[in-house]
Amino acid sequence: MNNWDVQATWNYHDGTKHSYWSIRNNPHFLDWENRPLPLKIYPKIEPFPLPRDVPQTGVAALSAISEPVHSSATDTVPELQALTRILYFSAGITKQRADPGGEIYFRAAACTGALYEIELYLVTGDLPGLDGGVYHFNPADISLRLLRKGDFRGNLSQATAMEPAVAHAPATIVCTGTYWRNAWKYQARTYRHFGWDNGTLLANLLAVSAASGLPAEIVLGFVDAEVNRLLDLDARREVSLCLVPIGCRSESPLPAPREAPALGLETIPVSQREVEYPAMLQMHDASSLESEEEVSQWRRNQPVFPSSALAGEPVRLQPLPEEEQPKDTIEQVILRRGSTRTFDGTASVTLAQLSTIFDGVTRGLPADFLEPPGAQLNDLYLIVHSVQGLKPGAYFFRRDRNTLELLNEGEFRAEAYHLGLEQELPADACVDIFFLADLRQILERYGNRGYRAVHLEAGAIGGRIYLAAYAQHLGATGLTFFDDDVIKFFSPHAKDKSAIFLLAIGKPLKRKPQ
Ligand SMILES: Cc1cc2nc3c(=O)[nH]c(=O)nc-3n(C[C@H](O)[C@H](O)[C@H](O)COP(=O)(O)O)c2cc1C
Repeated sequence: MNNWDVQATWNYHDGTKHSYWSIRNNPHFLDWENRPLPLKIYPKIEPFPLPRDVPQTGVAALSAISEPVHSSATDTVPELQALTRILYFSAGITKQRADPGGEIYFRAAACTGALYEIELYLVTGDLPGLDGGVYHFNPADISLRLLRKGDFRGNLSQATAMEPAVAHAPATIVCTGTYWRNAWKYQARTYRHFGWDNGTLLANLLAVSAASGLPAEIVLGFVDAEVNRLLDLDARREVSLCLVPIGCRSESPLPAPREAPALGLETIPVSQREVEYPAMLQMHDASSLESEEEVSQWRRNQPVFPSSALAGEPVRLQPLPEEEQPKDTIEQVILRRGSTRTFDGTASVTLAQLSTIFDGVTRGLPADFLEPPGAQLNDLYLIVHSVQGLKPGAYFFRRDRNTLELLNEGEFRAEAYHLGLEQELPADACVDIFFLADLRQILERYGNRGYRAVHLEAGAIGGRIYLAAYAQHLGATGLTFFDDDVIKFFSPHAKDKSAIFLLAIGKPLKRKPQ
Protein backbone atom coordinates (compact mmCIF):
# COMPACT_ATOMS: atom_id res chain seq x y z
CA MET A 1 0.00 0.00 0.00
CA ASN A 2 2.29 2.67 -1.36
CA ASN A 3 -0.36 5.34 -0.97
CA TRP A 4 0.15 5.48 2.78
CA ASP A 5 3.90 6.01 2.64
CA VAL A 6 3.42 9.77 2.64
CA GLN A 7 7.11 10.59 2.81
CA ALA A 8 6.91 10.30 -0.99
CA THR A 9 4.72 13.40 -1.12
CA TRP A 10 6.98 15.40 1.19
CA ASN A 11 9.98 14.45 -0.95
CA TYR A 12 8.21 15.63 -4.08
CA HIS A 13 6.67 18.74 -2.54
CA ASP A 14 9.83 19.94 -0.81
CA GLY A 15 11.92 19.03 -3.83
CA THR A 16 9.82 21.18 -6.19
CA LYS A 17 9.45 24.32 -4.09
CA HIS A 18 10.33 27.63 -5.71
CA SER A 19 12.54 29.98 -3.75
CA TYR A 20 14.43 33.14 -4.65
CA TRP A 21 17.62 31.05 -5.01
CA SER A 22 16.12 27.98 -6.70
CA ILE A 23 14.89 30.21 -9.54
CA ARG A 24 18.23 32.01 -9.89
CA ASN A 25 20.33 28.86 -9.74
CA ASN A 26 18.25 26.85 -12.21
CA PRO A 27 20.19 26.56 -15.49
CA HIS A 28 17.06 25.37 -17.37
CA PHE A 29 16.26 27.15 -20.65
CA LEU A 30 13.50 26.69 -23.20
CA ASP A 31 14.64 24.63 -26.16
CA TRP A 32 12.35 26.06 -28.84
CA GLU A 33 13.60 23.61 -31.46
CA ASN A 34 12.22 20.82 -29.30
CA ARG A 35 8.97 22.55 -28.32
CA PRO A 36 6.26 19.93 -27.64
CA LEU A 37 3.17 19.55 -29.79
CA PRO A 38 0.17 20.87 -27.88
CA LEU A 39 -2.09 18.07 -29.20
CA LYS A 40 -2.19 14.29 -29.18
CA ILE A 41 -2.53 13.08 -32.76
CA TYR A 42 -3.44 9.57 -33.89
CA PRO A 43 -2.39 9.69 -37.56
CA LYS A 44 -4.02 6.42 -38.59
CA ILE A 45 -7.50 6.80 -37.06
CA GLU A 46 -10.31 8.38 -39.04
CA PRO A 47 -11.96 11.32 -37.25
CA PHE A 48 -15.60 11.26 -36.24
CA PRO A 49 -16.50 14.95 -36.71
CA LEU A 50 -18.60 16.47 -33.95
CA PRO A 51 -21.46 18.82 -34.85
CA ARG A 52 -20.41 22.45 -35.38
CA ASP A 53 -23.85 24.02 -34.98
CA VAL A 54 -24.43 23.29 -31.29
CA PRO A 55 -26.89 25.75 -29.73
CA GLN A 56 -25.70 27.62 -26.66
CA THR A 57 -27.44 27.04 -23.34
CA GLY A 58 -28.17 30.70 -22.59
CA VAL A 59 -27.62 30.00 -18.87
CA ALA A 60 -25.98 32.83 -16.90
CA ALA A 61 -22.36 32.01 -16.04
CA LEU A 62 -22.74 32.93 -12.39
CA SER A 63 -25.57 30.44 -11.89
CA ALA A 64 -23.88 27.73 -13.99
CA ILE A 65 -20.84 27.93 -11.70
CA SER A 66 -22.67 27.80 -8.43
CA GLU A 67 -25.70 25.62 -8.98
CA PRO A 68 -24.71 22.07 -9.91
CA VAL A 69 -27.35 19.68 -11.22
CA HIS A 70 -27.91 16.79 -8.85
CA SER A 71 -28.74 13.29 -10.01
CA SER A 72 -32.47 12.82 -9.73
CA ALA A 73 -35.00 10.11 -10.33
CA THR A 74 -35.46 11.28 -13.92
CA ASP A 75 -32.88 10.07 -16.41
CA THR A 76 -30.53 12.59 -17.95
CA VAL A 77 -28.81 11.19 -21.01
CA PRO A 78 -26.41 13.49 -22.87
CA GLU A 79 -26.99 13.84 -26.58
CA LEU A 80 -24.13 14.32 -28.98
CA GLN A 81 -24.74 18.07 -29.09
CA ALA A 82 -24.49 18.40 -25.32
CA LEU A 83 -21.32 16.29 -25.21
CA THR A 84 -19.79 18.40 -27.96
CA ARG A 85 -20.64 21.57 -26.05
CA ILE A 86 -19.07 20.18 -22.88
CA LEU A 87 -15.88 19.03 -24.65
CA TYR A 88 -15.49 22.23 -26.66
CA PHE A 89 -16.05 24.67 -23.81
CA SER A 90 -13.66 22.69 -21.59
CA ALA A 91 -10.74 21.97 -23.92
CA GLY A 92 -11.59 23.55 -27.28
CA ILE A 93 -9.53 26.14 -29.14
CA THR A 94 -11.08 29.55 -28.59
CA LYS A 95 -8.40 31.98 -29.85
CA GLN A 96 -5.15 31.96 -31.74
CA ARG A 97 -2.21 34.34 -31.75
CA ALA A 98 1.08 34.56 -33.62
CA ASP A 99 4.09 34.29 -31.31
CA PRO A 100 7.84 34.38 -32.01
CA GLY A 101 7.95 30.71 -30.94
CA GLY A 102 5.13 29.79 -33.38
CA GLU A 103 1.34 30.11 -33.49
CA ILE A 104 -0.36 29.64 -30.10
CA TYR A 105 -3.82 28.10 -30.05
CA PHE A 106 -5.43 29.19 -26.80
CA ARG A 107 -8.02 26.98 -25.19
CA ALA A 108 -11.22 27.45 -23.25
CA ALA A 109 -9.54 27.03 -19.85
CA ALA A 110 -6.34 28.62 -18.52
CA CYS A 111 -3.27 26.41 -18.59
CA THR A 112 0.26 27.04 -17.35
CA GLY A 113 2.51 28.17 -20.17
CA ALA A 114 -0.30 27.56 -22.73
CA LEU A 115 1.17 24.05 -23.08
CA TYR A 116 -2.14 22.17 -22.79
CA GLU A 117 -0.97 18.90 -21.31
CA ILE A 118 -4.47 17.75 -20.36
CA GLU A 119 -6.21 15.40 -22.82
CA LEU A 120 -9.86 14.32 -22.76
CA TYR A 121 -11.25 10.87 -23.55
CA LEU A 122 -14.84 9.69 -23.62
CA VAL A 123 -16.05 6.26 -22.48
CA THR A 124 -19.65 5.80 -23.49
CA GLY A 125 -22.47 3.37 -24.08
CA ASP A 126 -24.70 3.80 -27.14
CA LEU A 127 -26.06 7.36 -27.13
CA PRO A 128 -28.31 9.27 -29.50
CA GLY A 129 -25.91 10.00 -32.40
CA LEU A 130 -22.89 8.13 -31.02
CA ASP A 131 -22.09 4.43 -30.80
CA GLY A 132 -20.65 3.04 -27.59
CA GLY A 133 -16.87 3.17 -27.44
CA VAL A 134 -13.70 4.62 -25.99
CA TYR A 135 -12.85 7.84 -27.83
CA HIS A 136 -10.17 10.52 -27.79
CA PHE A 137 -11.21 14.15 -28.25
CA ASN A 138 -9.10 16.23 -30.62
CA PRO A 139 -9.74 19.97 -30.19
CA ALA A 140 -7.92 20.88 -33.43
CA ASP A 141 -10.56 19.40 -35.72
CA ILE A 142 -13.32 19.13 -33.08
CA SER A 143 -13.64 15.42 -33.58
CA LEU A 144 -13.54 12.12 -31.74
CA ARG A 145 -11.31 9.20 -32.66
CA LEU A 146 -12.50 5.73 -31.80
CA LEU A 147 -9.89 3.77 -29.84
CA ARG A 148 -12.10 0.83 -28.79
CA LYS A 149 -15.49 -0.06 -30.21
CA GLY A 150 -18.20 -1.17 -27.78
CA ASP A 151 -19.44 -0.34 -24.32
CA PHE A 152 -16.55 -0.32 -21.80
CA ARG A 153 -18.37 1.49 -19.01
CA GLY A 154 -18.29 -1.70 -16.96
CA ASN A 155 -14.48 -1.50 -16.91
CA LEU A 156 -14.55 2.07 -15.62
CA SER A 157 -17.15 1.25 -13.06
CA GLN A 158 -15.12 -1.68 -11.79
CA ALA A 159 -11.97 0.48 -11.65
CA THR A 160 -13.83 2.96 -9.41
CA ALA A 161 -15.12 0.18 -7.11
CA MET A 162 -18.67 0.85 -8.33
CA GLU A 163 -18.69 4.54 -7.56
CA PRO A 164 -22.43 5.31 -8.01
CA ALA A 165 -22.10 8.31 -10.36
CA VAL A 166 -19.82 6.33 -12.71
CA ALA A 167 -22.00 3.23 -12.50
CA HIS A 168 -25.09 5.22 -13.58
CA ALA A 169 -23.45 7.52 -16.13
CA PRO A 170 -24.33 7.09 -19.81
CA ALA A 171 -20.90 8.63 -20.56
CA THR A 172 -17.76 9.43 -18.59
CA ILE A 173 -14.99 11.85 -19.55
CA VAL A 174 -11.49 10.81 -18.48
CA CYS A 175 -8.85 13.54 -18.08
CA THR A 176 -5.19 12.63 -18.52
CA GLY A 177 -1.90 14.52 -18.16
CA THR A 178 1.08 14.25 -20.53
CA TYR A 179 4.27 14.91 -18.55
CA TRP A 180 6.66 16.16 -21.18
CA ARG A 181 4.28 18.60 -22.79
CA ASN A 182 4.38 20.72 -19.63
CA ALA A 183 7.75 19.59 -18.18
CA TRP A 184 9.49 21.03 -21.26
CA LYS A 185 9.09 24.35 -19.44
CA TYR A 186 8.31 23.56 -15.83
CA GLN A 187 10.45 20.44 -15.27
CA ALA A 188 9.55 18.32 -12.24
CA ARG A 189 7.04 20.89 -10.95
CA THR A 190 4.66 19.72 -13.69
CA TYR A 191 3.02 17.23 -11.35
CA ARG A 192 1.56 20.19 -9.44
CA HIS A 193 0.52 21.73 -12.76
CA PHE A 194 -1.44 18.57 -13.63
CA GLY A 195 -3.80 19.38 -10.75
CA TRP A 196 -3.96 23.10 -11.52
CA ASP A 197 -4.50 22.76 -15.28
CA ASN A 198 -6.88 19.84 -15.00
CA GLY A 199 -8.73 21.85 -12.34
CA THR A 200 -9.32 24.98 -14.45
CA LEU A 201 -10.62 22.73 -17.22
CA LEU A 202 -12.94 20.98 -14.74
CA ALA A 203 -14.41 24.31 -13.64
CA ASN A 204 -15.58 24.86 -17.23
CA LEU A 205 -16.65 21.25 -17.64
CA LEU A 206 -18.82 21.28 -14.50
CA ALA A 207 -20.34 24.68 -15.32
CA VAL A 208 -21.22 23.75 -18.92
CA SER A 209 -22.63 20.38 -17.82
CA ALA A 210 -24.78 22.16 -15.25
CA ALA A 211 -25.91 24.69 -17.86
CA SER A 212 -26.82 21.73 -20.10
CA GLY A 213 -28.94 20.22 -17.31
CA LEU A 214 -26.59 17.28 -16.83
CA PRO A 215 -25.22 16.11 -13.49
CA ALA A 216 -21.42 15.76 -13.41
CA GLU A 217 -18.90 15.16 -10.67
CA ILE A 218 -15.17 14.63 -10.18
CA VAL A 219 -14.08 11.08 -9.36
CA LEU A 220 -10.54 10.66 -8.08
CA GLY A 221 -10.86 7.16 -6.61
CA PHE A 222 -9.96 4.61 -9.29
CA VAL A 223 -7.44 1.87 -9.98
CA ASP A 224 -4.90 3.81 -12.02
CA ALA A 225 -3.48 0.94 -14.03
CA GLU A 226 -6.98 -0.21 -15.13
CA VAL A 227 -8.01 3.18 -16.49
CA ASN A 228 -4.62 3.75 -18.13
CA ARG A 229 -4.92 0.36 -19.82
CA LEU A 230 -8.43 1.08 -21.06
CA LEU A 231 -7.18 4.28 -22.73
CA ASP A 232 -4.08 2.47 -24.01
CA LEU A 233 -1.76 5.02 -22.38
CA ASP A 234 2.01 4.71 -22.18
CA ALA A 235 2.02 5.46 -18.44
CA ARG A 236 5.61 6.71 -18.42
CA ARG A 237 4.41 9.56 -20.61
CA GLU A 238 0.71 10.08 -19.97
CA VAL A 239 -1.50 9.16 -17.00
CA SER A 240 -5.17 9.31 -16.07
CA LEU A 241 -5.91 12.06 -13.56
CA CYS A 242 -9.65 11.97 -12.93
CA LEU A 243 -13.00 10.79 -14.25
CA VAL A 244 -16.11 12.89 -14.77
CA PRO A 245 -19.33 10.90 -15.17
CA ILE A 246 -21.91 12.88 -17.18
CA GLY A 247 -25.65 12.36 -16.88
CA CYS A 248 -27.50 9.65 -15.02
CA ARG A 249 -29.56 6.62 -16.00
CA SER A 250 -31.07 5.13 -12.88
CA GLU A 251 -32.23 1.75 -14.15
CA SER A 252 -29.94 0.87 -16.99
CA PRO A 253 -27.95 -2.35 -16.53
CA LEU A 254 -24.21 -1.84 -16.77
CA PRO A 255 -22.34 -4.16 -19.14
CA ALA A 256 -19.81 -6.57 -17.62
CA PRO A 257 -16.16 -5.49 -17.87
CA ARG A 258 -14.63 -6.59 -21.18
CA GLU A 259 -11.17 -7.60 -22.25
CA ALA A 260 -9.13 -4.51 -23.04
CA PRO A 261 -5.95 -5.73 -24.70
CA ALA A 262 -3.06 -3.36 -25.45
CA LEU A 263 -3.67 -1.55 -28.75
CA GLY A 264 -0.27 0.02 -29.39
CA LEU A 265 -1.94 2.80 -31.39
CA GLU A 266 0.44 5.03 -33.26
CA THR A 267 0.64 8.67 -32.14
CA ILE A 268 2.82 11.53 -33.40
CA PRO A 269 5.73 12.04 -30.95
CA VAL A 270 5.23 15.05 -28.69
CA SER A 271 8.82 16.25 -29.32
CA GLN A 272 11.94 14.99 -31.02
CA ARG A 273 13.48 14.33 -27.59
CA GLU A 274 11.84 13.97 -24.20
CA VAL A 275 13.32 14.30 -20.74
CA GLU A 276 11.89 12.06 -18.04
CA TYR A 277 11.70 13.47 -14.50
CA PRO A 278 11.86 10.52 -12.07
CA ALA A 279 10.50 12.65 -9.19
CA MET A 280 7.16 12.88 -11.01
CA LEU A 281 6.96 9.20 -11.88
CA GLN A 282 7.66 8.40 -8.22
CA MET A 283 4.99 10.86 -7.04
CA HIS A 284 2.47 9.36 -9.42
CA ASP A 285 3.33 5.82 -8.47
CA ALA A 286 3.16 6.58 -4.76
CA SER A 287 -0.29 8.16 -5.15
CA SER A 288 -1.70 5.36 -7.33
CA LEU A 289 -4.43 3.04 -6.07
CA GLU A 290 -3.79 -0.57 -6.91
CA SER A 291 -7.00 -2.53 -6.40
CA GLU A 292 -10.76 -2.08 -6.08
CA GLU A 293 -10.49 -2.85 -2.35
CA GLU A 294 -7.97 -0.07 -1.96
CA VAL A 295 -10.24 2.30 -3.88
CA SER A 296 -13.30 1.60 -1.76
CA GLN A 297 -11.33 1.86 1.45
CA TRP A 298 -9.77 5.11 0.24
CA ARG A 299 -13.17 6.56 -0.51
CA ARG A 300 -14.43 5.73 2.96
CA ASN A 301 -11.65 7.80 4.53
CA GLN A 302 -13.57 11.01 4.21
CA PRO A 303 -12.52 13.98 6.28
CA VAL A 304 -14.44 16.93 7.59
CA PHE A 305 -12.02 19.81 7.70
CA PRO A 306 -12.99 22.65 9.98
CA SER A 307 -11.81 26.09 8.87
CA SER A 308 -8.95 27.34 11.01
CA ALA A 309 -10.02 29.73 13.71
CA LEU A 310 -8.35 32.64 15.39
CA ALA A 311 -8.27 35.54 13.00
CA GLY A 312 -9.27 39.16 13.67
CA GLU A 313 -11.96 41.69 12.78
CA PRO A 314 -14.51 40.01 10.46
CA VAL A 315 -16.09 41.61 7.39
CA ARG A 316 -19.18 39.84 6.10
CA LEU A 317 -19.23 39.14 2.38
CA GLN A 318 -22.27 40.60 0.62
CA PRO A 319 -22.78 39.37 -2.94
CA LEU A 320 -24.72 41.43 -5.45
CA PRO A 321 -28.45 40.67 -5.23
CA GLU A 322 -29.46 38.10 -7.85
CA GLU A 323 -31.33 40.65 -9.98
CA GLU A 324 -28.24 42.89 -10.18
CA GLN A 325 -25.82 40.13 -11.13
CA PRO A 326 -24.53 40.18 -14.71
CA LYS A 327 -26.37 37.66 -16.87
CA ASP A 328 -23.68 36.93 -19.49
CA THR A 329 -24.00 33.30 -20.48
CA ILE A 330 -21.46 30.66 -19.57
CA GLU A 331 -20.49 30.32 -23.24
CA GLN A 332 -19.97 34.09 -23.65
CA VAL A 333 -17.83 34.19 -20.54
CA ILE A 334 -15.66 31.23 -21.54
CA LEU A 335 -15.10 32.72 -24.99
CA ARG A 336 -14.20 36.08 -23.44
CA ARG A 337 -11.87 34.66 -20.77
CA GLY A 338 -8.14 34.99 -21.24
CA SER A 339 -5.57 35.50 -18.51
CA THR A 340 -4.98 39.19 -17.85
CA ARG A 341 -1.47 40.16 -18.97
CA THR A 342 -1.34 43.60 -17.30
CA PHE A 343 -3.55 44.84 -14.48
CA ASP A 344 -4.39 48.50 -13.99
CA GLY A 345 -2.62 49.19 -10.70
CA THR A 346 -4.81 52.25 -10.05
CA ALA A 347 -8.15 50.40 -10.38
CA SER A 348 -10.31 48.91 -7.65
CA VAL A 349 -13.12 46.35 -7.39
CA THR A 350 -16.07 46.57 -5.03
CA LEU A 351 -16.66 44.38 -2.03
CA ALA A 352 -19.90 43.23 -3.69
CA GLN A 353 -17.96 42.04 -6.77
CA LEU A 354 -15.44 40.17 -4.64
CA SER A 355 -18.25 38.70 -2.53
CA THR A 356 -20.10 37.56 -5.66
CA ILE A 357 -16.97 35.70 -6.75
CA PHE A 358 -16.54 34.04 -3.37
CA ASP A 359 -20.22 33.21 -3.06
CA GLY A 360 -20.28 31.28 -6.31
CA VAL A 361 -17.01 29.44 -6.00
CA THR A 362 -16.72 28.33 -2.40
CA ARG A 363 -19.86 26.24 -2.08
CA GLY A 364 -17.88 23.04 -2.49
CA LEU A 365 -17.17 20.98 -5.57
CA PRO A 366 -19.06 17.84 -6.51
CA ALA A 367 -16.25 15.31 -5.96
CA ASP A 368 -15.95 11.81 -4.54
CA PHE A 369 -13.24 12.99 -2.12
CA LEU A 370 -15.32 15.80 -0.64
CA GLU A 371 -17.81 14.49 1.90
CA PRO A 372 -20.05 15.82 3.24
CA PRO A 373 -20.91 17.92 0.18
CA GLY A 374 -19.48 21.38 0.71
CA ALA A 375 -16.26 20.17 2.34
CA GLN A 376 -13.08 21.84 1.05
CA LEU A 377 -9.39 21.00 1.42
CA ASN A 378 -7.91 24.41 0.61
CA ASP A 379 -8.11 27.50 2.79
CA LEU A 380 -8.17 30.87 1.06
CA TYR A 381 -5.95 33.74 2.18
CA LEU A 382 -6.01 37.15 0.52
CA ILE A 383 -3.79 40.13 0.00
CA VAL A 384 -6.21 42.98 -0.59
CA HIS A 385 -4.69 45.94 -2.41
CA SER A 386 -7.69 47.83 -3.66
CA VAL A 387 -11.20 46.64 -2.79
CA GLN A 388 -13.78 49.35 -2.01
CA GLY A 389 -15.12 48.62 1.47
CA LEU A 390 -12.04 46.71 2.71
CA LYS A 391 -8.89 48.02 4.33
CA PRO A 392 -5.77 46.98 2.42
CA GLY A 393 -4.06 44.08 4.14
CA ALA A 394 -3.78 40.33 4.58
CA TYR A 395 -7.00 38.41 5.23
CA PHE A 396 -8.24 34.90 5.95
CA PHE A 397 -11.51 33.73 4.39
CA ARG A 398 -13.59 32.08 7.07
CA ARG A 399 -15.80 29.83 4.95
CA ASP A 400 -18.16 28.63 7.67
CA ARG A 401 -19.11 32.24 8.50
CA ASN A 402 -18.68 33.72 5.02
CA THR A 403 -16.43 36.44 6.43
CA LEU A 404 -13.04 37.89 5.64
CA GLU A 405 -10.95 38.26 8.77
CA LEU A 406 -8.15 40.80 8.88
CA LEU A 407 -4.80 39.27 9.79
CA ASN A 408 -2.55 42.21 9.13
CA GLU A 409 -3.51 45.67 7.90
CA GLY A 410 -1.18 47.37 5.43
CA GLU A 411 -0.15 48.06 1.85
CA PHE A 412 1.50 44.89 0.58
CA ARG A 413 2.00 45.44 -3.16
CA ALA A 414 5.77 45.04 -2.88
CA GLU A 415 5.32 41.82 -0.90
CA ALA A 416 2.82 40.51 -3.46
CA TYR A 417 5.29 41.27 -6.25
CA HIS A 418 7.87 39.15 -4.46
CA LEU A 419 5.56 36.28 -3.43
CA GLY A 420 4.21 35.91 -6.98
CA LEU A 421 7.68 35.13 -8.34
CA GLU A 422 8.64 38.79 -8.76
CA GLN A 423 5.97 39.52 -11.34
CA GLU A 424 4.05 42.78 -11.74
CA LEU A 425 0.70 41.00 -12.04
CA PRO A 426 0.14 40.22 -8.32
CA ALA A 427 1.37 43.72 -7.37
CA ASP A 428 -0.99 45.52 -9.77
CA ALA A 429 -4.04 43.34 -9.12
CA CYS A 430 -6.83 44.48 -6.78
CA VAL A 431 -6.65 41.28 -4.77
CA ASP A 432 -4.47 38.16 -4.70
CA ILE A 433 -6.01 34.90 -3.53
CA PHE A 434 -3.62 32.34 -2.09
CA PHE A 435 -4.70 28.72 -1.61
CA LEU A 436 -3.05 27.14 1.42
CA ALA A 437 -3.66 23.69 2.82
CA ASP A 438 -2.80 21.64 5.87
CA LEU A 439 -0.97 18.95 3.89
CA ARG A 440 -0.12 16.92 6.98
CA GLN A 441 -3.79 16.46 7.83
CA ILE A 442 -4.73 15.80 4.20
CA LEU A 443 -2.07 13.12 3.75
CA GLU A 444 -3.11 11.49 7.01
CA ARG A 445 -6.67 11.05 5.69
CA TYR A 446 -6.06 10.38 1.98
CA GLY A 447 -2.45 9.21 1.76
CA ASN A 448 -0.38 10.46 -1.17
CA ARG A 449 -3.49 10.72 -3.30
CA GLY A 450 -4.47 13.67 -1.14
CA TYR A 451 -1.71 15.59 -2.91
CA ARG A 452 -3.51 15.05 -6.21
CA ALA A 453 -6.83 15.98 -4.59
CA VAL A 454 -5.67 19.26 -3.04
CA HIS A 455 -4.15 20.52 -6.30
CA LEU A 456 -7.12 19.43 -8.39
CA GLU A 457 -9.50 21.15 -5.99
CA ALA A 458 -7.41 24.35 -6.03
CA GLY A 459 -7.34 24.37 -9.84
CA ALA A 460 -11.09 23.83 -10.06
CA ILE A 461 -11.90 26.59 -7.55
CA GLY A 462 -9.33 28.77 -9.31
CA GLY A 463 -11.05 28.04 -12.62
CA ARG A 464 -14.39 29.01 -11.12
CA ILE A 465 -12.85 32.27 -9.86
CA TYR A 466 -11.64 33.01 -13.39
CA LEU A 467 -15.20 32.51 -14.68
CA ALA A 468 -16.86 34.49 -11.89
CA ALA A 469 -14.42 37.37 -12.45
CA TYR A 470 -14.93 37.43 -16.22
CA ALA A 471 -18.70 37.15 -15.76
CA GLN A 472 -18.39 40.55 -14.01
CA HIS A 473 -16.10 41.98 -16.71
CA LEU A 474 -13.09 41.83 -14.40
CA GLY A 475 -9.75 40.20 -15.19
CA ALA A 476 -7.87 37.34 -13.53
CA THR A 477 -4.75 35.26 -13.89
CA GLY A 478 -3.25 32.20 -12.25
CA LEU A 479 0.25 32.73 -10.90
CA THR A 480 3.07 30.77 -9.40
CA PHE A 481 4.85 31.61 -6.15
CA PHE A 482 7.74 31.25 -3.71
CA ASP A 483 6.36 28.47 -1.51
CA ASP A 484 7.89 29.11 1.88
CA ASP A 485 7.76 32.90 1.62
CA VAL A 486 3.98 32.69 1.14
CA ILE A 487 3.63 30.71 4.37
CA LYS A 488 5.92 33.11 6.22
CA PHE A 489 3.86 36.06 5.01
CA PHE A 490 0.58 34.65 6.35
CA SER A 491 2.08 33.27 9.58
CA PRO A 492 1.51 32.76 12.42
CA HIS A 493 -2.04 32.01 11.18
CA ALA A 494 -0.75 29.79 8.34
CA LYS A 495 2.29 28.32 10.01
CA ASP A 496 1.31 24.64 9.60
CA LYS A 497 0.12 24.96 6.00
CA SER A 498 1.63 24.59 2.54
CA ALA A 499 1.19 26.89 -0.45
CA ILE A 500 -0.85 25.22 -3.20
CA PHE A 501 -2.11 27.81 -5.71
CA LEU A 502 -2.33 31.55 -6.43
CA LEU A 503 -4.70 33.64 -8.48
CA ALA A 504 -4.95 37.42 -8.92
CA ILE A 505 -8.07 39.45 -9.72
CA GLY A 506 -8.23 43.02 -10.96
CA LYS A 507 -9.06 45.21 -13.90
CA PRO A 508 -7.13 44.69 -17.13
CA LEU A 509 -5.15 47.75 -18.21
CA LYS A 510 -6.80 49.32 -21.22
CA ARG A 511 -4.08 50.14 -23.72
CA LYS A 512 -4.22 53.62 -25.22
CA PRO A 513 -4.59 53.62 -29.01
CA GLN A 514 -1.13 54.18 -30.62
C1 LIG B 1 -2.17 27.71 -12.41
C2 LIG B 1 -1.75 28.79 -13.34
C3 LIG B 1 -0.57 29.49 -13.11
C4 LIG B 1 -0.18 30.50 -13.96
N1 LIG B 1 0.96 31.21 -13.67
C5 LIG B 1 1.29 32.29 -14.43
C6 LIG B 1 2.39 33.11 -14.07
O1 LIG B 1 3.10 32.84 -13.08
N2 LIG B 1 2.65 34.18 -14.85
C7 LIG B 1 1.89 34.51 -15.94
O2 LIG B 1 2.16 35.52 -16.59
N3 LIG B 1 0.82 33.73 -16.30
C8 LIG B 1 0.51 32.65 -15.57
N4 LIG B 1 -0.58 31.86 -15.91
C9 LIG B 1 -1.40 32.21 -17.10
C10 LIG B 1 -1.09 31.27 -18.28
O3 LIG B 1 0.12 31.68 -18.87
C11 LIG B 1 -2.25 31.32 -19.27
O4 LIG B 1 -3.33 30.65 -18.69
C12 LIG B 1 -1.91 30.64 -20.59
O5 LIG B 1 -0.96 31.40 -21.30
C13 LIG B 1 -3.14 30.44 -21.44
O6 LIG B 1 -3.71 31.68 -21.74
P1 LIG B 1 -5.18 32.09 -21.35
O7 LIG B 1 -5.37 31.85 -19.88
O8 LIG B 1 -5.28 33.56 -21.72
O9 LIG B 1 -6.14 31.26 -22.14
C14 LIG B 1 -0.97 30.81 -15.09
C15 LIG B 1 -2.12 30.08 -15.34
C16 LIG B 1 -2.52 29.07 -14.50
C17 LIG B 1 -3.75 28.29 -14.80
